[in-house]
Amino acid sequence: MISSNLFSLVSLVSVALAAADCIGINAIAPGCTSREALHSRDLFYVGGRYVAGAAGNLTYDQLYVEKLTPATGVKQSKPIVLFHGGGTSGVTWLNTPDNRKGFASHFLDYGYQVYIVDQTSVGRGSAEDLNDYVMRIGSTAEITEKGFTAPELTDAYPQSQQHTQWPGTGVRDDPIFDAFESTFIPLTSNLTVQELSMRSSGCQLLSLIGSSFLISHSIGALHPFLLSNDCPSLVAGNINLEPGNIPFQSYVGNATSSVGRTSARPWGMTNTRVTYDPPISNSSELTYELIGDDTSAKRSCYMQTGTIRKLPAIAKVKYVALTGSASPHITYEHCVIDFLHQAGVAAEWIKLADRDITGNGHFGYLEKNSAQIAGVVHDWILANC
Ligand SMILES: *[C@@H]1O[C@H](CO)[C@@H](O)[C@H](O)[C@H]1NC(C)=O
Ligand SMILES: *[C@@H]1O[C@H](CO)[C@@H](O)[C@H](O)[C@H]1NC(C)=O
Ligand SMILES: *[C@@H]1O[C@H](CO)[C@@H](O)[C@H](O)[C@H]1NC(C)=O
Ligand SMILES: *[C@@H]1O[C@H](CO)[C@@H](O)[C@H](O)[C@H]1NC(C)=O
Repeated sequence: MISSNLFSLVSLVSVALAAADCIGINAIAPGCTSREALHSRDLFYVGGRYVAGAAGNLTYDQLYVEKLTPATGVKQSKPIVLFHGGGTSGVTWLNTPDNRKGFASHFLDYGYQVYIVDQTSVGRGSAEDLNDYVMRIGSTAEITEKGFTAPELTDAYPQSQQHTQWPGTGVRDDPIFDAFESTFIPLTSNLTVQELSMRSSGCQLLSLIGSSFLISHSIGALHPFLLSNDCPSLVAGNINLEPGNIPFQSYVGNATSSVGRTSARPWGMTNTRVTYDPPISNSSELTYELIGDDTSAKRSCYMQTGTIRKLPAIAKVKYVALTGSASPHITYEHCVIDFLHQAGVAAEWIKLADRDITGNGHFGYLEKNSAQIAGVVHDWILANC
């Protein structure tokens, strides 16, 4: 009797303590209130198909979609759809690792109908992978620290020294870092399969919900770019936070130099075919070369040479990229903008520092000033509606 009463007392004290300190993982305690905007949530699977297997027919390539509706009602004319980056899933748009209001909630507060997807092959999505689901890592703690949460410690590029916005230390064993690192999960190693399933299911989603603003992060920018090619009339605007689909090359996490640079995306900004003019049937017909000085502060870029081909479908969609002042992307994002301009796309580039928003790394939408970044995106949507 005594010991059981003592046990209850201990549990009560720990619940009360947790409620008093609703930071990061502690906020999971029942006594902690949510910081998210009030909304209702519905979920759907869109697209996909049956594939006959030995055990029976399986469904593949369906897109997991959450529909969030603000409790105060929808006030904006067009929805937004959030596309996560590589290694993460749709959860990245919900409450932040330090349990502040997530990016989706800022848009619920602005009165948008918000959709969040898990890309095909990721999280609750699915993709047919004929190679028996060869998965690759989402991110290691080392890549995350050096590339995303504490680049200032490695100092691989001068702008890293301006990084101030990550909540917490940004390194392992800090509870906020650990909560963030835990959101990385494996994904398919076959980006061709993923792109093809995202093109099909993504345009089906837009045909169901109508013309929408697509907001993506990092390599998640691949998908709105492909949807702009395939169903441009359904894309009201393509908003890329730190686009990762750098033309013809890839930088892994912490890599900003030629050491970590690999050739990638044979169609320029995608692995699968997009429409060029003059037309081509094989990506090998694109001719390009590395242009510009290559320093740790500003990287050289691949640009087309010879016949300069345009991207006529993609050019129909309004495009903007946003880049943080202390992110590795500030050293190479100009490559995306210059390539798009050359290909006839009137791409806009918002360097956040030009809006007096400074100190952001690659995951600005999770960092301390995320509300300000949401404000910049909202203003761009209002100006382009
Ligand atoms: C899968 O579906 C097809 C078409 O309905 C059917 O012919 C086939 O027998 C199914 N496969 C199995 C293993 O049940
Ligand atoms: C990716 O999947 C496609 C389609 O199934 C296949 O043709 C291709 O060989 C795969 N690529 C790799 C690198 O596994
Ligand atoms: C990135 O970090 C990994 C893991 O610490 C390291 O092995 C690799 O050399 C780093 N790459 C660059 C380009 O700094
Ligand atoms: C594209 O061109 C390359 C290089 O010429 C060739 O190896 C490849 O087979 C071609 N692909 C297709 C689908 O024709």
